[in-house]
Amino acid sequence: MARPLRERKGTMIRQCHDRDFNVIYTIINNAAHAYKGIIPADRWHEPYMSQDELKEELQAGVTFWGYEEEGELLGVMGIQPVQDVTLIRHAYVRPASQGQGIGGTLLTALHQQTTRPILVGTWADAAWAIRFYEKHGFRTLSPAEKDRLLRRYWSIPERQVETSIVLADSSWPENK
Ligand SMILES: CC(C)(COP(=O)(O)OP(=O)(O)OC[C@H]1O[C@@H](n2cnc3c(N)ncnc32)[C@H](O)[C@@H]1OP(=O)(O)O)[C@@H](O)C(=O)NCCC(=O)NCCS
Repeated sequence: MARPLRERKGTMIRQCHDRDFNVIYTIINNAAHAYKGIIPADRWHEPYMSQDELKEELQAGVTFWGYEEEGELLGVMGIQPVQDVTLIRHAYVRPASQGQGIGGTLLTALHQQTTRPILVGTWADAAWAIRFYEKHGFRTLSPAEKDRLLRRYWSIPERQVETSIVLADSSWPENK
């Protein structure tokens, strides 16, 4: 049984650097296996995110933060300022380290870095991810609003718009 996070030593949340690229790539693709057989089959591919796609995300302004324990990154989460909002992008925790509070710790840390409204998009079928964000105060937006927001703030194919949902933090107005 894993020790509670507060009792663990040698942990920190830190910004990721170029040298972390391969570890970020590995964490994303290992954790993304959770989607296999869950998200629509035409959206699943392996690796889930190629190295080129990851490079494009970094070039587009996604900054990754990591949860490190004794020198090893166990989880990563990206943050991307876009127009008047901040997006949470690519939240992944190593499979063996999930369910121990690492994702929640990262989400809280990123939340504290911005005063702008935060939006996060995920697969409509990823019920565990939706629960995770709802547990942290995010609410799922209506289908019409998520379509509008995904087209405005994300650069994703139309098929991904169809199969995704958007959650917003508590600062997001009811009728924006
Ligand atoms: C979603 C994810 C980032 C959350 O990080 P985490 O460290 O596992 O989450 P925490 O431990 O802080 O929070 C646990 C909550 O997340 C959810 N959860 C998600 N995956 C879980 C898992 N494998 N085991 C237990 N809880 C999980 C549950 O709702 C849980 O709430 P509960 O404690 O009330 O049951 C991580 O589980 C993950 O990488 N999942 C696979 C990829 C994914 O879905 N990414 C989201 C992309 S938007």
